[in-house]
Amino acid sequence: MEADPSPRPLVSDNQPAGYQSAVRVIGLSAAAALPALADLSGLAPIEITGAENALAAALAQALQGAGVAAEIVDQPSGAARTVILTEGLQSGDLVERHWSVLAQACLAHTCLTHTGAAKIICLQETATDVLAQTGLAGLARTLRKEWATVETVCWAFETCDPELVVRALSNGLGDAAIAHDGSWRAQAIGPAMLPPSVQSAGQAEVWLVTGGARGVTATCTIELARRTGATFILAGRSAQAAWPDGIAKTADIKVLRAALAQQAKANGEKIKLPDLDGMARQALAGQEIGETLAAIAAAGGTAHYAQLDLSDDAAVRAQVADMQARFGQITGLVHGAGVLADRLALKKTRRDLDTVFGPKVLGLQSVLGALDVSVLSHVALFSSASAAFGNVGQADYAMANTCLNQIANRLASQVPGLRAKAFNWGPWDGGMVDANLAELFAAQGIGLIDRRDGARIFADQLLDGDPAEIELLAGDRWTVS
Ligand SMILES: NC(=O)c1ccc[n+]([C@@H]2O[C@H](COP(=O)([O-])OP(=O)(O)OC[C@H]3O[C@@H](n4cnc5c(N)ncnc54)[C@H](OP(=O)(O)O)[C@@H]3O)[C@@H](O)[C@H]2O)c1
Repeated sequence: MEADPSPRPLVSDNQPAGYQSAVRVIGLSAAAALPALADLSGLAPIEITGAENALAAALAQALQGAGVAAEIVDQPSGAARTVILTEGLQSGDLVERHWSVLAQACLAHTCLTHTGAAKIICLQETATDVLAQTGLAGLARTLRKEWATVETVCWAFETCDPELVVRALSNGLGDAAIAHDGSWRAQAIGPAMLPPSVQSAGQAEVWLVTGGARGVTATCTIELARRTGATFILAGRSAQAAWPDGIAKTADIKVLRAALAQQAKANGEKIKLPDLDGMARQALAGQEIGETLAAIAAAGGTAHYAQLDLSDDAAVRAQVADMQARFGQITGLVHGAGVLADRLALKKTRRDLDTVFGPKVLGLQSVLGALDVSVLSHVALFSSASAAFGNVGQADYAMANTCLNQIANRLASQVPGLRAKAFNWGPWDGGMVDANLAELFAAQGIGLIDRRDGARIFADQLLDGDPAEIELLAGDRWTVS
């Protein structure tokens, strides 16, 4: 990801009536009842992975009772037409849970392609614990885009009930949240909204903004500063490095690398290319951090930078305690830290999942663990349209962002008075969207979010939006498979 050169205050008070990029609420459809059992013969034979043995056994029994051949397996074989994965029901390590479902789905896909049209069903339960969420709906949406001959769906149960699984199976249900009483709901995306018409009173005074010194989170934070005049502690891994002596300021990494190489040559130094690249990136990161701090101050806020890697839980706890001792209790949280590790699901590694879930989900867990969540008044999580629609190459990213969406919902339901928003952003004109990604989106007819518009959407919705609207989609709708 290239450094993003222009995190400046962007939005004027003279606003047009609507947004350039549509903003919609992501919610659930009206509840529908699962119809009674229908013919299951087209789905057989069925394999159930045995990660959750008791459930797998009860499910096999229920299917056999309905007259269908069903077998419990350690991993999918080539024999089945339908594979039901139970790994998502396991408790314990969150990344491992997502990885084991992805790995089993990939195995199933490799086998099932030999038998023509086939189905993989990922089971999960809706966690009541804020920090124990499962994002398999994002996986299913992504795999439907990547795989033509196998349809993957995700059923999220309040409590997984074998009889309900059988009824859902026999009715060919797509992705759904299924309640105890057998009613189900699907994801529903509302109409484009107008900006809020009233300003809310009582904003947070001290905000922690992960990833807030760089990229699109910086852009949004500057606008937040303009609206609130609050104190912002920006956290990121990069050092606030000084600009190298004797080198002209630039935001272009190629220009900077060339200038650094020339300087080294003139000084008779030999610097290897990767080191040169590292020096250039460090300088650009330092420059971007400095520009964001200055822009927040110019916008009327107070800004501090903390070099902090969210993957270091102990460091997060220690630094958050230190921040609160110095600047006061943190009551606003913006979580924008995130990285990509794009590649097709069949090529994903456990390491890719660690890379993507690390800052986004585990990092958020650490931050929430370090804060007094009960006093939070505002939480904004930077999620992605990849969660809502799935995206080729982004199985891990779609799952991680789906977890963020659920965490926002859980926090909103558990912390009285909290405004929690998960912004499912489409691609921005900036941040991690480089020229290659922008081209890929353009080819799909998906426009980029203008930075000024995105910052306005963010501040409007977080500060003044309807607290009942938790998951927001910003940007164009993507195709759904
Ligand atoms: N740009 C878009 O179009 C878009 C679309 C949808 C969603 N989003 C989401 O919006 C957020 C910001 O994206 P962006 O485009 O602005 O990306 P970006 O320019 O790459 O910025 C990512 C930020 O995350 C920080 N970060 C990454 N890993 C970290 C870690 N382990 N600990 C602390 N900080 C960490 C980075 O700082 P350091 O490098 O200094 O650590 C940087 O500030 C991400 O969560 C992304 O998923 C962006």
